[in-house]
Amino acid sequence: MVILQVRNIQYRYHDGTFALRGVSLDIHKGEFLAILGPNGSGKTTLLKHLNGLLKPVGGEILLEQKSFTQYTSREIFQKVGIVFQDPNDQLFAPSVWEDVAFGPMNLGLSKSEIAHRVDEALSLVGMKPYANKTVDALSFGQKKRVCIAGVLAMRPAILVLDEPTCGLDPAGVTSIMMLLRELNSKHGITIIMATNMVDLVPVYMDRLAIMYQGNILRVGTPEEVFSNAAEIKYACLELPQIAQLMQVLRDEECLPLDTLPLTIGEAKKFLVSRLNGNRSGTASSLIV
Ligand SMILES: Nc1ncnc2c1ncn2[C@@H]1O[C@H](COP(=O)(O)OP(=O)(O)OP(=O)(O)O)[C@@H](O)[C@H]1O
Ligand SMILES: [Mg+2]
Repeated sequence: MVILQVRNIQYRYHDGTFALRGVSLDIHKGEFLAILGPNGSGKTTLLKHLNGLLKPVGGEILLEQKSFTQYTSREIFQKVGIVFQDPNDQLFAPSVWEDVAFGPMNLGLSKSEIAHRVDEALSLVGMKPYANKTVDALSFGQKKRVCIAGVLAMRPAILVLDEPTCGLDPAGVTSIMMLLRELNSKHGITIIMATNMVDLVPVYMDRLAIMYQGNILRVGTPEEVFSNAAEIKYACLELPQIAQLMQVLRDEECLPLDTLPLTIGEAKKFLVSRLNGNRSGTASSLIV
């Protein structure tokens, strides 16, 4: 089922920059979708449309088959939560607890329900021990988690994140991605995430959309999209590193590959089966 439908939207900033040039995209309920594209391709602009922060100058967006125009802004904010790239743009309350409580408070919920939601959201992102800490005293990665908690406390059906791994160390990247995967697979939250980290896509995401110069160039599974290396290059992107290595082995070392493995797991499976094949080949020729 399509939960969000973007239909031919266009957007022009005040200075005349035409940032979206007719973007169409179907987002399926329960999927984990990556929006991949080079700097300035329109990812942030598109994400800001998905919860109504920006309004398109042309085209429309449908949420659960109903046009955005049929919802109030508050209804959209409740259903589609957005996490900005820079946590400092999002956090504003003095303490972690107050920041996460801000959304539920605005919904007019009872004190006990607010407390329950804040506890639940902070637990989900592993930040409950920091509830009383000052926001300014958190690390960058912790701030990102608090931002996600603030959005989760609204219990959104859809979570939109703008480069959530940007500025994190490798362990921080893995930990945020594992959290997002859990929110998606265990809690059924539809996730749309803009990223430049191409290596993450085949490991965590179901589908990806490639953005280039204000348009969507291609949408599909990682296998479908990354099978067209020329198009990836055209969009100023690269294949995942492991796929690049396998491409070199295929083109320069004549490794027979029908499809390029995209993850370490897939590459390992292929290489181990080749090595085992060769070993048994050597053994049998020795026996003969
Ligand atoms: N506030 C603004 N005013 C004018 N132009 C803007 C504004 N914000 C973005 N743009 C322009 O719109 C285009 C798309 O920008 P956007 O931020 O959506 O790209 P992006 O894909 O998110 O890039 P990045 O990977 O650098 O985050 C760019 O040409 C950019 O210069
Ligand atoms: Mg951006």
